[in-house]
Formats: sequence, structure tokens, C-alpha cells
Amino acid sequence: MFNLEAYLKERASLVEGALEKLLPKGGKLAESMRYTTLGGGKRLRAILLLASAEYSGWTDLDSILPAAAALECIQAYSLIHDDLPCMDDDELRRGKPTNHLVFGEAIALLAGDGLLTFAFELFSKLKLPAGNVLAAVRDLAEAIGPSGMVEGQALDLEWTGKRLTLEQLEQLHLRKTAALLCASLRCGAHLAGAQEADITALATYGQKFGLAFQIVDDLLDEVGDPEKLGKATGSDARLGKVTYPVLLGAEKARKLAARAIEEAKAALEPERGTALFGIADYVLSRQS
Ligand code: IPE
Ligand code: IPE
Ligand code: MG
Ligand code: MG
Ligand code: MG
Repeated sequence: MFNLEAYLKERASLVEGALEKLLPKGGKLAESMRYTTLGGGKRLRAILLLASAEYSGWTDLDSILPAAAALECIQAYSLIHDDLPCMDDDELRRGKPTNHLVFGEAIALLAGDGLLTFAFELFSKLKLPAGNVLAAVRDLAEAIGPSGMVEGQALDLEWTGKRLTLEQLEQLHLRKTAALLCASLRCGAHLAGAQEADITALATYGQKFGLAFQIVDDLLDEVGDPEKLGKATGSDARLGKVTYPVLLGAEKARKLAARAIEEAKAALEPERGTALFGIADYVLSRQS
């Protein structure tokens, strides 16, 4: 029987080990990069890359582990910048004071820059067919750049306190959160040299999964336990953010998330997708 909890724990520690080894050491900038990246986080983006490659028939996890670690560098960069006073102005992340509170805003900003750049360095050094790596890098850059995550974060600021339609809110969540999660699956598939049909299926899973993931994040910001989350709750309300529970109420928001998870799973072949099915269900019940 597939044990999801053990699987997630084992994969997270694999990724943690890789990050520990790969991240730069020595000096204030490196210290700041390591502070937020190491020792916390669910490692979902990395785990999804590995699971997507496995779904596509890849078995040599060591060869793609630096790419999984790279996604966690991007995730950590996005969190450091998201928490800055000029963004969400948050004080707790992964159970610790936010990066800028420890290292100052300038170093926190540069740690984010460093992590983002370092992620692409890791991809460029993969010992895999160049065409597969290039396809992964292209999708990743598109997903997190000015028409993906960064645009989502800009819209998040621009639309704070505004009246949004459900369509606008969905666009916001697809960009700020689903784009990187979806790219995690696309990257895993590309690195594994997957068939076009598998890439499309995994991308559909990633997009639906990503939308559900941010809806649940919105819900947890209202009703979650800060102790378990490792970050403060009530941040969205404090800032006047439009979220799914604000727009629809908690019950409808939860139903929408559940529907997106069903759509995510429906894109995949069940017999190959045990891990990805498990991770999808976990998102709805997660408390951290
Ligand atoms: C937090 O992501 C930021 C969002 C996109 C909502 P996670 O909840 O995956 O954070 P970590 O990586 O586990 O800390
Ligand atoms: C963050 O969304 C999305 C990112 C790109 C980091 P949130 O601002 O809701 O994430 P948390 O709740 O601070 O983790
Ligand atoms: Mg934010
Ligand atoms: Mg935030
Ligand atoms: Mg949030």
C-alpha cells in the first residue's frame, strides 16, 4: 500500500540533502539564501518534479535532483520577496522570523535575486540531453516571469482592495501560484523526455492542482493554525486582499478547490499516477 506520509517525508529529505550540498556557503549573502531555503517547507514543487518524471517513465532520480532543488530555490526566492515590507510585510515564514528581519531588506532582496539566478545555473549544469533541459528551462522561465508568477504578484498588489470578478481572481491565482506548480510538472516531464500527450496531461494536472493549492492557502489564512503553518494567519484580511473565501465564502471556496483537485486527477492515468493522486488529495486536507 502506498504510504503518502512516508513518501512525502522521504522525498522532502532527499531534496533537503541536495539543497544543503548545492547552495553556496560562506558570507552574508549565502547565509541569507540558506536561512530561508533550508530547514523548512513542504518541498512540494521539487516533489512534483520528481513525481512527474517518474510518471513519464524516468527512474534515475539522482540525475534530476538538482532540478528539483532548483525549483525550491525559486520557491524560497518568491517567499523572501513576498514577505518584504513593500509586499505582504510578514514577520514569520517557515516557523522563523522572515529573511528581511534577520538580514535586513537589502540582503533579503539580494538573496532572492541570488536564489532565482542560482536555480537557472543548476538547470544549465544538468547532465541530461540538452534539448530536454532547454525545453524545461523555457517552460520554467515563462511560468515564473513577466507573464507568470511575477505578473501574478504585480496583479496581487494592483488589485488589493479592488472589487474583482471570479475570473480575475482565478487569473491572479493561476499566475502567482499555479504557474510555478504547473512548471514543476512540465519540467519533470521534459527532463524525462516525455511524450507530448503526457506533458499535456501533467500540465493540466499542475494547473488545476495549483489553483486548488492557492484556494486552500487562502482558506488557511483565515482558519489555519499559525503554529502548524509556520506563518501568521490573517495576513490577507489585514492587507485587504481579495481571496476565494472573501469572494465566495469558505464553503463554496472549499468546494471549488475540491472540484479542481478532481479535474487534476482526471487528467492522469490512475495506474501510473499513484503518487500524484495522493499528493492531489493531500492538498485539500493539508494544515501546513
Ligand atoms: C506558499 O507555498 C506560497 C504560496 C504559493 C501559497 P507553500 O505552502 O508551498 O510553502 P512552503 O514551500 O511549503 O514553505
Ligand atoms: C504567495 O501568495 C504567492 C507567491 C508567489 C509567493 P501568498 O502571499 O498568499 O503566500 P503566503 O500566504 O504569504 O505564503
Ligand atoms: Mg502575497
Ligand atoms: Mg504572502
Ligand atoms: Mg497566503
